[in-house]
Amino acid sequence: MTATYREQGDIAVITLNNPPVNGLGYDTRKGIVEGILQANENAAIRAIILAGEGKGFSGGADIREFNTPKALQEPWLQTVIQIVENSGKPVIAAIHGVAMGGGLELALGCHYRVAVAGAQIALPEVKLGILPGAGGTQRLPRILGLETALNMIVSGNPVMSEKLAGTKLFDHMITGELMAGAMDFARKVADVRPLPKVRDISITYPNADGYLQFARNTVRTVAGPFPAPLKCVDAVAAAVNKKFDDGLKVERDLFLELVQTSESKALRHAFFGERAASKIPDVPADTPLRTIRSAAVIGAGTMGGGIAMNFANAGIPVKVLEVKQEALDKGMNILRKNYENSMKKGKLTQEQLEKRLSLISGTMSYDDIGQADIVIEAVFEDMSVKEVVFKKLDEVMKPGAILASNTSTLDIDKIAAFTKRPQDVIGTHFFSPANVMKLLEIVRGEKTAKDVLATTMALAKTIRKTGVVSGVCDGFIGNRMVEQYIRQAGFLLEEGCLPEQVDKAIEKFGFAMGPFRMSDLAGNDIGWYIRKRRYVEKPEVTYSKVADLLCEKGRFGQKTSAGWYDYKPNDRKAYPSDEVNQMIIAHSKDLGIEHRKISDQEIIERLVYALVNEGALILEEGIAMKASDIDMVYLTGYGFPLFRGGPMFYADTIGLSNVLMAINRYGKGRHPEAWVPAPLLVKLAAESQAFN
Ligand code: 3HC
Ligand code: NAI
Repeated sequence: MTATYREQGDIAVITLNNPPVNGLGYDTRKGIVEGILQANENAAIRAIILAGEGKGFSGGADIREFNTPKALQEPWLQTVIQIVENSGKPVIAAIHGVAMGGGLELALGCHYRVAVAGAQIALPEVKLGILPGAGGTQRLPRILGLETALNMIVSGNPVMSEKLAGTKLFDHMITGELMAGAMDFARKVADVRPLPKVRDISITYPNADGYLQFARNTVRTVAGPFPAPLKCVDAVAAAVNKKFDDGLKVERDLFLELVQTSESKALRHAFFGERAASKIPDVPADTPLRTIRSAAVIGAGTMGGGIAMNFANAGIPVKVLEVKQEALDKGMNILRKNYENSMKKGKLTQEQLEKRLSLISGTMSYDDIGQADIVIEAVFEDMSVKEVVFKKLDEVMKPGAILASNTSTLDIDKIAAFTKRPQDVIGTHFFSPANVMKLLEIVRGEKTAKDVLATTMALAKTIRKTGVVSGVCDGFIGNRMVEQYIRQAGFLLEEGCLPEQVDKAIEKFGFAMGPFRMSDLAGNDIGWYIRKRRYVEKPEVTYSKVADLLCEKGRFGQKTSAGWYDYKPNDRKAYPSDEVNQMIIAHSKDLGIEHRKISDQEIIERLVYALVNEGALILEEGIAMKASDIDMVYLTGYGFPLFRGGPMFYADTIGLSNVLMAINRYGKGRHPEAWVPAPLLVKLAAESQAFN
């Protein structure tokens, strides 16, 4: 049973027992109703306590049931809450850990609520693209007041229970053991009548309509493409302007509308995708982890400094090693400046800044780092430099230390072979700026030990990254796919687009930044360097030559104040460049291509389907373990629009046969070699299946 019933003297206790977070799935809902009825039938019972086993009271509706018949199977949550509220005997919610979403709504349906400190109280539905659908938008404003409730509902952010002590939400804060305190409280209120109900409280707010209009205007500016935040305001407005039961109906209709939206489906996909990423089929969840109490980073350049900050931010002492004093000083200065900037923006206190800086120390001697539990190499992207470093690490690092490389393109298996302990070697591919970007691609080498992989995944969580496992291949998941995207962007220039048109189209689709603005930011020379290598190693792969012509002019991007666009001093805005645009048109003429008008739809399809097709190959080859891992890479590392759920999820929503048809159509264009459909895509499309 996922909700159990017991009697302790004159008090009945219903305990939610549905791990991991007591989600209110069908069985649990049914169990609660049965418990309430049983307690009401037994004359010896004077009050009922509703509590949660394990981690907390309840994390809310069972998200796994959404869009399945079970979600709406009676007793639906609203029905459960109605039965609780109509119980002839008082029901007391005893809260610890979490009371979120439907869990909080259930507690609001109880006659009393008691809690211990440290519980997270929230209506986070908006983060899943929906709104509280079991009375939360109607009861929370009644009990916490219009403003506080609206803020909680629209932001979805948790508030700690102790911060809400003294509000009507909690009738009593328990300082000792929860159940003992709840029992005492239950006996005190057992005979009080009438039973208090949140629905009976009226909302008083001077000029509520004015406030709601203000809230609507504010929310509209921050909601972006997501419909849920504004609907939250609509539902709260119904709490103010309508009778309770009519407000409930408004809420329910809006909930049912939102749960079907593609934005909500995408957000739920991302929620589960993030959690699924840490599950590796052949690495059991109980794999013993290596201890990470200290770290070292080799190289204090662009990446090394940011990587070191991640450790310090998580309270892990880290040593940064450089070859030259000058490079070390430069790296440490940048790091300090980054922290100072955060402090100026109010994100860090002076005390936190000092604490974090005290955890980072520089060195030029390998003797100082040998005892670190993990070392991450972030030196130049050159195999011969990596060889020197890994041979040295093999000599000095203590047995059992994890040896990681931040390489973005090199073969981890080759790097591992420089050591006598390839089982301890792994790739940790951070994204720039490493202290900011959420994504961490964790590259599993052929010989990487399972506990090294599990420990590195756990470390990702500790340093607040989304860890996604990738197999070894050129570019891993993210960059291997982005190469196809950039390739198409180049071909589009030859055929009729200018950089601004491509960027605008894909930014309108929802990408944070189009391919040309992105390249200008990252440095066009990086792609040039990689392409020059490819011209030798993989001459069969075709590229537009426009990007090479751009680099030959020294237009490396923002760092040279000139790239695909022009830049002005101290201004990151991209200004279209006549020089570049003329160069593009002239290049097409040289190739004998007549510039044609290209639609935004073609731009979007070619860029996104190029990602999808390569993603399908990556999936088929086992480089990514699941389609949602690819989506997580793109959502957290490449600015793919969250409301579209990632490239593979997006392809699923379009329908894989439609995607395949478009790919075949583009394959009849100038570059059929870039549009060979991935066999997995062909197979799934034929079977009317999806990636996810
Ligand atoms: N339903 C089903 N499973 C859930 C869940 C839920 N509501 N919330 C979390 N889980 C699962 C996770 O998928 C994960 O499963 P796994 O171990 O198999 O991967 C497990 O619980 C643990 O989750 P976390 O890793 O996130 O654990 P944390 O301890 O870090 O956080 C939490 C716990 C704060 C509850 C966090 O999971 C969370 O924020 N959950 C979402 C809560 C939420 O959005 N609730 C609203 C649901 S919608 C609703 O109630 C509709 C109603 O209004 C009608
Ligand atoms: P960088 O050039 O900014 O920094 C490299 C640093 O390593 C320099 O400070 C240099 O002095 C130091 N160094 C060189 N040889 C060394 C040695 N033998 N011992 C100790 N220190 C040494 O380079 P960046 O950009 O930080 O890149 C580092 C690694 O991270 C590369 O493998 C790169 O491919 C990878 N990477 C870079 C990203 C980026 O956006 N810059 C993104 C993801 C990965």
